[in-house]
Amino acid sequence: MMNFSLKYIFLLIFIANECVSQSINQDHLQLKFVFILMRHTNRAPLNRYKNQTDQIPWPRGLGELTDQGVWNAYRAGQALRERYLGFLHPLQRYTPSEIDVSTTEVDRCYQSAGYLLAGMYPPNEEQTWNKDLKWQPIPIKTSLSKDHQQFTGDPRLCPKYAMELHEISENAIKTEKVKKLINYMKNYTSSPLNTLYDVLKVSDVIMTQRMANYPIPNWALERYKDIEEYILYSMTILVETDQMKLLYSGEMLNDVLTRMEASINKSPDAKKIYLHVGHDSTIVPFLKTLNVKNITYPLYGAAVVMELYASLSNETIVKLLYNRDYEWKESNIELIELPGCPQPCRLEDLRTLTQQMIPRNLTEECKN
Ligand SMILES: *[C@@H]1O[C@H](CO)[C@@H](O)[C@H](O)[C@H]1NC(C)=O
Ligand SMILES: *[C@@H]1O[C@H](CO)[C@@H](O)[C@H](O)[C@H]1NC(C)=O
Ligand SMILES: *[C@@H]1O[C@H](CO)[C@@H](O)[C@H](O)[C@H]1NC(C)=O
Ligand SMILES: *[C@@H]1O[C@H](CO)[C@@H](O)[C@H](O)[C@H]1NC(C)=O
Ligand SMILES: *[C@@H]1O[C@H](CO)[C@@H](O)[C@H](O)[C@H]1NC(C)=O
Repeated sequence: MMNFSLKYIFLLIFIANECVSQSINQDHLQLKFVFILMRHTNRAPLNRYKNQTDQIPWPRGLGELTDQGVWNAYRAGQALRERYLGFLHPLQRYTPSEIDVSTTEVDRCYQSAGYLLAGMYPPNEEQTWNKDLKWQPIPIKTSLSKDHQQFTGDPRLCPKYAMELHEISENAIKTEKVKKLINYMKNYTSSPLNTLYDVLKVSDVIMTQRMANYPIPNWALERYKDIEEYILYSMTILVETDQMKLLYSGEMLNDVLTRMEASINKSPDAKKIYLHVGHDSTIVPFLKTLNVKNITYPLYGAAVVMELYASLSNETIVKLLYNRDYEWKESNIELIELPGCPQPCRLEDLRTLTQQMIPRNLTEECKN
């Protein structure tokens, strides 16, 4: 059995006590695999809107990480090393068999992963190659990414998805709530706001400024709750139908389950950790695809975590966790009940439960 840190064992006992059903002896759970789907850390707004009067400097550029984002990603890496201390290589040595890392092809995600790994894998003595630089390169891949948020940007990649999203958006933009917000915003931004994305772009400026503790205009302050709600709403409709769930999040879910199975089957290419850095628009759809209720808007560095355990009798148990921000504080991490797979949730049961969400051949299923 791996040496868990004591803190970790306490967490497990705590979780075990919280469990609804207790048919598996959870006293000696051994961690086998961890999937972390994290949102990039703090960033600048993606754009500016017409009539925007403030002159807030974003020295690294629009859409890029901020200084705070850099540090928070680094700190998240340090916190992850701490959290999984007993699970990772005992000499704190990076090995390619330990972790796979992927991100979307967006600077802020790639860089979040880079800074995170700098915090998580400082070279140990033996791996130090330059005594003035406590850093070693850890591979980050974009080709492993099963993050289909690019569908929304490029309909050619999945015509079926584009068609469904178009239909859903047409309806959404006609709802009273959205119409009211658009009319209100139009007045102050002098922008046409013809699509949900136009509204999202303005909303993003507002929310990003606020989260960076910069002042926002009074008109936005007055409707801040609506703006916040709108942003979350625009993420949830990305997977409004079962078909959309399959097309958008299904492949990532399948990837995670397949990696878990590889770990249990001791496949030679199995890794201990798979970290993917994506977006709010990755996390919300992924949770919704798992039927999680009560989804909140993911803060910078928030993460969905799926931990796979084996019991003494070799039963598999999957725990779905949500980490509220980059800090990985125990008090910010909650166990989320998987609808249809109450704890202890077996990997086999989760596989069966999610069968309908897994694409067989995405190329085929994306055809209109
Ligand atoms: C539009 O803006 C003007 C000037 O700020 C304000 O007086 C008016 O009430 C606003 N209209 C709406 C519909 O919010
Ligand atoms: C927005 O800018 C336009 C010119 O680009 C100006 O005519 C209009 O009065 C401005 N609206 C507000 C609310 O500042
Ligand atoms: C929903 O989430 C909020 C915020 O995290 C929490 O306070 C509330 O208790 C949750 N409700 C349910 C039904 O889980
Ligand atoms: C569980 O699996 C391990 C390793 O594969 C094996 O050594 C052990 O005998 C198994 N235990 C049970 C109860 O099947
Ligand atoms: C998926 O479908 C495409 C197009 O129909 C086909 O070319 C490809 O071989 C299929 N892939 C698999 C793994 O079956």
